[in-house]
Amino acid sequence: MLKRKNKELNIPDHIAIILDGNGRWAKKRGMPRTYGHQKGVENIRTIAIASAELGIKALSVYAFSTENWKRPEKEVNFLMKLPGEFEKKFKDEFKKHDIKVMFSGRKTQLSKENLEILERITKNTKDRKGLVLNICFDYGSQTEITEAVKMIAEEVKENKISPEDITKEMITERLYTKDLPDLDLLIRPSGEVRLSNFLLWQAAYAELYFCDTYWPAFSKRVLEKALLEYTNRNRRFGGLKS
Ligand code: IPE
Ligand code: IPE
Ligand code: MG
Repeated sequence: MLKRKNKELNIPDHIAIILDGNGRWAKKRGMPRTYGHQKGVENIRTIAIASAELGIKALSVYAFSTENWKRPEKEVNFLMKLPGEFEKKFKDEFKKHDIKVMFSGRKTQLSKENLEILERITKNTKDRKGLVLNICFDYGSQTEITEAVKMIAEEVKENKISPEDITKEMITERLYTKDLPDLDLLIRPSGEVRLSNFLLWQAAYAELYFCDTYWPAFSKRVLEKALLEYTNRNRRFGGLKS
C-alpha cells in the first residue's frame, strides 16, 4: 500500500513532529541517552529533506520544551550544544535543498552564544523559497499564548484597541508561527499519547497521528505511512462530510 505514488497522497502544507523517544532508543541499544539525542538531531536533517521532497511547505519540530530544563544538568548541557552542531552539520545540505530555518520559542533563557547561532541561521536562510523548517527550541505553547495575550493587553492599555475588538485572529497573528500555514498534521512518535505543551492553539483542527517508532528510527517510510493515513482522514472542521 505504501508503494502508492506521492501524487496519490494528500500532501499537507504544514506538519509538526514531537521529536520524542531519543532516550529510550539509546537505552535499548545499551547506550547513554545523549547518544539518542545525537541521532535524534541528525534525523531532523533526514526528515526535513524527505518533507521537502514530498512537497510539504512547513515542518515544525519540537526539539526542546520549556519543561525540559527540569532534566539533569548534564543532559540539558548536552542538548544546549545542539544548535551549534546543527549549524555546522546541516548548513550545506539545507542550502542545496533551499530549506529556510526559523526558530520558535522563548529567547529569555538561552545562552548568548545559542541566541547568536539561532539568529545567524535564521538570517542566512531567510530568503530561501523551499521548505520552512521551524525548530521549536525552548518552546512551550502555554508561554507562547501567554506572550500573545500580554501583547494584546498592552495594546488595550495604550487604548489602541478595546477588549471587545479582540479576535482569535489577533491571537494567531501574535504566535511564533504567524507566518506559517495552518497546521494540518501533528505526529508524535515513541508511543506517548499527549501533546506535552506543543502547538496547543495551532492544533485546534490538525489531524493527530501517534506511532510507536522512537524518533531516531523515524524514517521517510514512517512519514509516508502517516501521510497515507492523513490522506484517508475526513477533515470536516465542524461541518458535514462533503
Ligand atoms: C526527546 O527524547 C528529546 C527531548 C525531549 C529533548 P526524550 O529525551 O524525551 O526521550 P525519552 O522520551 O526519554 O525516550
Ligand atoms: C516532549 O517530550 C518535548 C520534546 C520532544 C522536545 P518529553 O519527553 O519532554 O515529554 P513528556 O515529558 O513525555 O510529556
Ligand atoms: Mg520523552
